[in-house]
Amino acid sequence: MALAYNERTHDCGALRGEDVGKTVLLAGWVHKVHDLGGLMFVDLRDRGGLTQLHFKGETDPIAYEAAQSLRGEDVVVVRGEVIHRGKDVNRKMATGEVEVVVREIDVLSKSKTPPFPMDDEIDTNEDLRIEHRFLDLRRTPVKDAMLLRHRVTKTIRDYFDRHGFIDIETPVLNKSTPEGARDYLVPSRLQHGSFYALPQSPQIFKQLLMIGGMDRYMQIARCFRDEDLRADRQPEFTQVDIEMAFVQADDVMGHVETCLAEVMKAVHGIDVTLPMTRISYADAMRTYGRDAPDMRYGMTIKDVTAWAGKTEFKVFQDALAQGGVVRCIVIPGGASMSRKQTDGLAEELRGIGAGGMPVVKIADEGGKTVVQTGIAKFIQGEAMVAELVEASGAAVGDLVCFAADTEENVSKYLGWLRTMVAERLDLIPKDKWAFCWVVDFPLFGYDDEEGGIYPMHHPFTSPKDDDVELMKLGTDEVPSPGDLVKIRAKAYDVVLNGIELGGGSIRIHRGEIQSKVFQLLGISPEEAAAKFEFLLKALQFGAPPHGGIALGLDRIIMLLGKTASIRDVIAFPKNAKAICPLTGAPSAVADAQLDELGLAVKERR
Ligand code: AMO
Repeated sequence: MALAYNERTHDCGALRGEDVGKTVLLAGWVHKVHDLGGLMFVDLRDRGGLTQLHFKGETDPIAYEAAQSLRGEDVVVVRGEVIHRGKDVNRKMATGEVEVVVREIDVLSKSKTPPFPMDDEIDTNEDLRIEHRFLDLRRTPVKDAMLLRHRVTKTIRDYFDRHGFIDIETPVLNKSTPEGARDYLVPSRLQHGSFYALPQSPQIFKQLLMIGGMDRYMQIARCFRDEDLRADRQPEFTQVDIEMAFVQADDVMGHVETCLAEVMKAVHGIDVTLPMTRISYADAMRTYGRDAPDMRYGMTIKDVTAWAGKTEFKVFQDALAQGGVVRCIVIPGGASMSRKQTDGLAEELRGIGAGGMPVVKIADEGGKTVVQTGIAKFIQGEAMVAELVEASGAAVGDLVCFAADTEENVSKYLGWLRTMVAERLDLIPKDKWAFCWVVDFPLFGYDDEEGGIYPMHHPFTSPKDDDVELMKLGTDEVPSPGDLVKIRAKAYDVVLNGIELGGGSIRIHRGEIQSKVFQLLGISPEEAAAKFEFLLKALQFGAPPHGGIALGLDRIIMLLGKTASIRDVIAFPKNAKAICPLTGAPSAVADAQLDELGLAVKERR
C-alpha cells in the first residue's frame, strides 16, 4: 500500500536524540546520495532541513532496491525508524545525532538533472538561478531569506495591529502618484488612449484615508517604479506603508523605531537603544557627506576652513575666495599608503567631479609631529601642524585627505571617499547595527541643470512652521530659489548602516499651502487640478493634521539577512534589466490584444 504522504510525522529538520526508537514518516527531496554497496545514505531535504536516511540491503532489501534508482531532487516519502548515529554523529547538522533506517519508500516524482546544485554556496550566474527560481528556493540561503521575510512581516503586522493601526488595501490601477520615478502604465480597454498608472506608493490614498477618519493605517503595499535598477532597487517592491492622524513627526518616528527594535529583537535577539540617534540633514551632509550616513564607523568629515585660510596653498585660497570651504577626512594608518594608491583615489575622485585630492601624511620626526609629502610644503611651522592635528583629529601614521570647493561639492567628494576607503580598508564592523534618523530635510532641492526647484520628498510634505513665511503665503510674491531651499520640511528618513530604510513626513493638511507648494514647483493651477483635484477637494472637507512614513520592506530584509542584493530576498525578482528570467516578462502581445486596447507599437525593441 502506498505511504500516506499527507500523514508526515515530522519535517526533515525536526528529529533529535530524544526521538530515537520512533517510527516516523518523512517526505521531501533527495539532496545527496551516497551508495556504499549494500548500504546507502540519502540526505532528505524539505523546508525544515535535512535528515540522513539509511537504507540497509540486508534487512530491508525492497527499500534498498528502490533507493538504487534515486537521483538528486527526486521526491520521496519514507517510513522508518529513528536510530542514534553512535560515533558518526554530525554536529554540523541540526538532526545530525540521528538517522532514519528506512523500511518503506515511495518515489512520488522524478527529477531531471538540475542546472545547478542545491548547495548553500554556488557559483552560478544569477539569471540562471532566477530562471529556475523554483529550484533556487530549495537552497538554504534563499529559503532562509523567505523565512526571515515572513518573520519580519509578521512582527511588523503584529506591532501595528497592537497599536490600533488597521490594514487597508489601496488600488493598484491608479492615477499617477509623484514619487520622482517613471510610472508603469496600464492601457484602458474601455477608454482608448487612457492609461492607469501602477502606484509608485499609496501616498495620496493613505492621506485620503486620514481625511476619511481611518485614524491609523498600515499596509504591506506593492509599489512600482520604472527607474534605473541597483543592488537595492527593484521595479516592483514592497513598502510597509503607514499613516496617522493628529500626530507630530515624533509620534510617527516613535512607532517606527519601536517597531524596528522589536524586529531586531525577534530576528537577531539584539536590543536596539531607543530613541535612535537623530541628526539633521545639514549635519549629516557636513559630517558624513551623505543624507544616509553610515554610523558604524568614524572617519567623519572635519572642517579645516579656518586653518586652510592661513596656508599658502592656492587651491585652498581659490576655493575660499569663492565662498567655498576646506574639509578633510583622516585615513587611519593611511600614511603607509603608496603614492600609487593615493593617486588612484584622486583619479577616482576626479571621475565624480573633484579637481584632485590634496593629501599630507602625519609623521614623527625625532619626537616631533610633522607633515610629509603631498601639500606638506605649504604647511609651514609647528603651530600650523598642531592646528591641523587638532582640527582634523589626525595622529602620527595617518593620512589627511582634503577637499576644497563649494560646501555641497566637498560633502559629495569626502562622503564618497569616506565610504570607499572604509570599504576597501575593511574598516566597517560587520556585526554592528547603526540606526539613525535624518531630520529637517530641505523641503525643496534646486536643479542646477534644469534651473528649477523640485520636492526633496514629495509635494505633499509640510514645511516646518518656522519656515512657512519664506513661502510668502497669501501673496503673489515669488520667493527666490535661494530662500526656497532654506525652507526645512517636517520630513524624516530612517537609516540603517548607511542605507535609507524608509522616509516619511508630516503632510500639508491645508489646501492653500498645498496649492502654494504646487505653484512654487511650477505646477500650474490647471495641471494641479488635472492631476490632484481629488486631493485638493478632499483637503477642503476637514482634513486632520496627519503624517506617516513608508519603509522599504525588501531593503530591511536584505540588511537583516546580510545579503548583497535586494533580489536575494524577493521570491521572484526581476533582473537588473527589469526582466523576469523565469517567465520572460515583459513580452510582446498579440496584435489582436493591441487592437482591443487601441494601441499600435511604433518600434519593437
Ligand atoms: P520613498 O519614495 O522615500 O517614500 O520610499 C520609501 C522607501 O521605499 C523603499 N524604496 C524602494 N525599495 C526597493 N526598490 C525601489 N525601487 C524603491 N524605491 C523606494 C526605500 C524607501 O526609503 N510615499 C512616500 C512615503 C511617505 O511619505 O510616507 C514614499 O514612497 O526603502
